[in-house]
Amino acid sequence: MKPVDTRAIPTTAPDAVLFRSPQIDDGVRLWEIARDSKVLDLNSSYAYLLWCRDFSATSIVAEVDGRVVGFISGYSRPSEAQTLFVWQVAVDEEQRGKAIAARMLDTLMDRTAPLGLTCLETTISPDNTASIALFTALARGRGVPISKQTLFAPNDFPDGHEAEDLFLVGA
Ligand SMILES: CC(C)(COP(=O)(O)OP(=O)(O)OC[C@H]1O[C@@H](n2cnc3c(N)ncnc32)[C@H](O)[C@@H]1OP(=O)(O)O)[C@@H](O)C(=O)NCCC(=O)NCCS
Repeated sequence: MKPVDTRAIPTTAPDAVLFRSPQIDDGVRLWEIARDSKVLDLNSSYAYLLWCRDFSATSIVAEVDGRVVGFISGYSRPSEAQTLFVWQVAVDEEQRGKAIAARMLDTLMDRTAPLGLTCLETTISPDNTASIALFTALARGRGVPISKQTLFAPNDFPDGHEAEDLFLVGA
């Protein structure tokens, strides 16, 4: 049998994605990804660093070839101990369409379930079809219901911000 040249065999698949909790030094990438999405509200760089420090257990990043290419920032609602609130989800444009966002959400729900977080909430602007499709697919994949309510109307905001509808997954 011809010997196999092991140097030619990659140790990780080219599209391998590592899902892990964010650390403080991921904050810069979170800020950059949010900025480059041109869709998300861009928070201060300080907010992303602080998020990575204080809400790491309820957030997640996706890493490809050692670079963070996507994130979800989330927190446990103080008044609803079983609810994971997903604040922002974003994936670098060149990495979209590979189920990275879907897998981040699924992994995050799996990781936070032992903390007692069994429901998920998020808000979505009515014209964000990608985000609506993402959370609808999440509910379908997990076999749980998804419902929508009005949360914030445009006139709740001071700056012409769009409405934000509240989506509940698993409630
Ligand atoms: C929304 C976003 C996170 C999706 O990331 P992604 O990794 O490409 O998404 P996935 O490949 O995991 O797709 C998950 C589901 O959403 C659907 N979807 C993703 N992008 C879509 C789009 N632009 N239009 C319609 N459906 C879309 C997929 O078809 C899939 O559904 P399916 O399983 O029924 O086929 C990404 O487009 C993004 O970063 N957008 C800018 C920021 C944003 O809008 N964030 C959401 C608001 S917080």
